[in-house]
Amino acid sequence: MRASHQDLVDPFGRVIKDLRISITDRCNFRCTYCMPEEGMQWLPRSEVMSFEEIEHLVRIFVDRYGVTGVRLTGGEPTVRAHLPVLVSKLAAINGPEGPIDLAMTTNGATMRLVADPLRAAGLRRVNISLDTLVREKFIEMTRRDELANVLDGIDAAQAAGFEPVKINAVIERGVNDDEIIDLATFGREQGVEVRFIEFMPLDADGHWVTEKVVGQDEIVAIIDAAYPIEQLPARGAAPADRFRYRDGSGVIGIIPTVTKPFCGDCDRVRLTAEGDFRTCLFATKEFDLLSALRAGETDDQIAARIEAAVATKWAGHRINQVNFVRPDKSMSQIGG
Ligand code: GTP
Ligand code: 5AD
Ligand code: SF4
Repeated sequence: MRASHQDLVDPFGRVIKDLRISITDRCNFRCTYCMPEEGMQWLPRSEVMSFEEIEHLVRIFVDRYGVTGVRLTGGEPTVRAHLPVLVSKLAAINGPEGPIDLAMTTNGATMRLVADPLRAAGLRRVNISLDTLVREKFIEMTRRDELANVLDGIDAAQAAGFEPVKINAVIERGVNDDEIIDLATFGREQGVEVRFIEFMPLDADGHWVTEKVVGQDEIVAIIDAAYPIEQLPARGAAPADRFRYRDGSGVIGIIPTVTKPFCGDCDRVRLTAEGDFRTCLFATKEFDLLSALRAGETDDQIAARIEAAVATKWAGHRINQVNFVRPDKSMSQIGG
């Protein structure tokens, strides 16, 4: 580790602290809000970052710029073979405040099989997707009959010692908005933080319309009527606004991308599975770091590319404005 790092600052004064890395574009689910049912074109293996390349780029972000958090996403990160090997490489990287906050977002279907090895390799936290507790609806939303495995995977993640385990539920009007209270109840009973996510225009088949978004205020009102909640202060740079149950039975989060954008506090950048650097989830421009690495560029040269890219980070997405342009990639290709 370098003795001191240089902050990576965007034109609006936001300091980049969090790197989200898609380690594969592949997935064993086909969630309707993310992927098409058929016809995804997978990246050829040779175009996907190797573990060594991922480690190399992470070291630049941590050593030079003091990035403190790294999150593995996909596609579905657990479909990548030998994942604990990657985790152990990244867990060994020390940031300015000690080991990095190494986390993963997963659909949970194979968590029972991988929880212990990943924990042993040094993964600290997992966020698991669960949008419904009803088997038929789960099949409808993910196009896979895996609810039982996901629920078992959540148990396995808790048993393996991941702390906290968070649950991500994308709420789509007319699909699963009737389950908001049931999902809240599940979180209270299971001892996990359920985060309700506003549906974002990043679905592959383009069925997103504003009317399908269930906004934060509506979700809060529904839960508060069943279980009184109060907002916790200081969300910081995280996407979730957090609320605690007044009876002390835990916390929920809401990720209000559409109705209450949180871009002003964003500290995140992203790498796609093919090593393209993105300065926003909704960015329409990418910066190819993997080709630079494979061409033998020095860390100084790659760092210059990173700084030039961060200099283009915009103030925020414009989902609610007429000039919003959807990225031409969907969620599974960007990495959540
Ligand atoms: P924590 O570190 O546990 O707070 O994780 P997280 O909420 O940042 O990560 P996770 O992968 O669980 O993402 C939850 C939801 O937040 C997903 O729907 C992401 O797409 C969304 N999300 C993550 N980062 C951003 C972002 O920069 N902008 C927007 N609009 N949404 C984001
Ligand atoms: N809108 C909101 N969240 C989404 N996710 C995937 N697609 C969308 C979308 N269109 C969520 C998944 C997962 C995380 C990586 O992103 O549920 O929890
Ligand atoms: Fe796979 Fe996640 Fe997309 Fe669902 S949301 S299809 S689990 S990448």
